[in-house]
Amino acid sequence: MKIDVLLGLQWGDEGKGKVVDVLTPKYNVVTRFQGGPNAGHTLEFNGEKYVLRSIPSGIFQGNINVIGNGVVLDPALFKVEAEALAASGYDLTKKLYISKKTHLILPTHRLLDAAYEAAKGDAKVGTTGKGIGPAYTDKVSRNGLRIGDTLENFKAKYDAAVARHEQILKSLNFDYDLKSLEAEWFEGVEYLKKFKLIDCEHFINSEIKAGKKILAEGAQGTMLDVDFGSYTFVTSSNAVSAGVCTGLGVAPNKIGDVFGIFKAYCTRVGSGPFPTELFDEIGEEMCAKGREFGSVTGRKRRCGWVDLVALKYAIMVNGVTKLIMMKSDVLDAFDTIKACVAYRIDGEIVTNFPYEIDNNTEPQYVELAGWKTDMSKMQSESEFPQEFKAYLNFLEKELEIPIIIVSLGPDRKQTIIR
Ligand code: GDP
Ligand code: IMO
Ligand code: MG
Repeated sequence: MKIDVLLGLQWGDEGKGKVVDVLTPKYNVVTRFQGGPNAGHTLEFNGEKYVLRSIPSGIFQGNINVIGNGVVLDPALFKVEAEALAASGYDLTKKLYISKKTHLILPTHRLLDAAYEAAKGDAKVGTTGKGIGPAYTDKVSRNGLRIGDTLENFKAKYDAAVARHEQILKSLNFDYDLKSLEAEWFEGVEYLKKFKLIDCEHFINSEIKAGKKILAEGAQGTMLDVDFGSYTFVTSSNAVSAGVCTGLGVAPNKIGDVFGIFKAYCTRVGSGPFPTELFDEIGEEMCAKGREFGSVTGRKRRCGWVDLVALKYAIMVNGVTKLIMMKSDVLDAFDTIKACVAYRIDGEIVTNFPYEIDNNTEPQYVELAGWKTDMSKMQSESEFPQEFKAYLNFLEKELEIPIIIVSLGPDRKQTIIR
């Protein structure tokens, strides 16, 4: 048995939560392997809507769910998230396991995130403000605190970390009120102890050996990956498929299918380059129809046409085996659909994703006919309009990977499996 991976190929918010939920019945275990509460994964079914941040999207069905060692967890936010689910009738304590090696986001990490952003001025990343960068920085610089640390002499370790963080905050002249954050954070730390704290690498590998089916759910997207994304406007973890190995403790030869998920267009939230971004009424319409507002921060998402230069790159670095196209219904109203097939940079045509993209990266488009048909209630592929079929064929030909799922709306049921 191998572990399948589902991850975003763009700048996040592709619809990962929805599709993980759709695929969950096929799996025994669903895991998160990186990121933290910067993620906002939306699921809609039976007229209800849920937004998950740190909890895997397999939680609503019978599966075991695992938060892996590669994740960074904020106990205060985790408690709020888990208690809200419990209030809706989903008791997670028996089916959510958490790695003892998962790193903690401290209240001071959130303060440092804000302080670093303020210090960057116009060059700010536009982070979600959840302390992600500082928590991963501490992990890599060997100063981090892990969930396993909470089981013994924790206060001393916490105080030492906070003392170090406060020195940095003072050097940045950042005003803060730590006390008001600490009470709920420590309540969160106690709350975590209700859950089964595991050695994730042993658990996952024994499940693989036992023939169980496992799905790893990515957060963020490839273009936000710390190595391969549009650095420095990225997150602080490896959102690519390789992150599954380090984020759960599985070997590369245990990776099975890699499901790459993308929107039929493209969005980005926060700062940073976005070659196909639209500043006109088409972009506005995509935003309105796609309800493109961040699930974590409520910020308006920037919208643009699909970018095949970036998608091909993402497919390459992830080893994508199957594609999933989301939000096809959002393009229902347009006369013409555009797809970026190359960039012009300093007068030269470039089709390999370059070292850096910036304001000089001019997208080169091909135009396809729009389908101008409401697809949101369609039940099968046979109902697809010809123009939409042509768009799918065009994408499959360009990307050289089959599109196995087409999503036509936010609800679990608005999904066509091909
Ligand atoms: P994630 O972070 O990748 O899980 O994506 P988000 O949940 O942040 O953003 C995707 C948004 O699009 C959510 O509001 C979903 O409910 C919604 N959504 C998902 N699939 C579709 C779709 O096919 N069509 C439409 N119109 N909305 C969708
Ligand atoms: P999901 O899993 C979209 C963006 C932020 C910012 C940059 C760095 O829902 O797809 P961070 O807080 O991680 O330090 O912010 O990354 N970002 C996301 N954008 N979807 C996400 O997650 C994101 N997580 C982080 O907006 O530009
Ligand atoms: Mg999201």
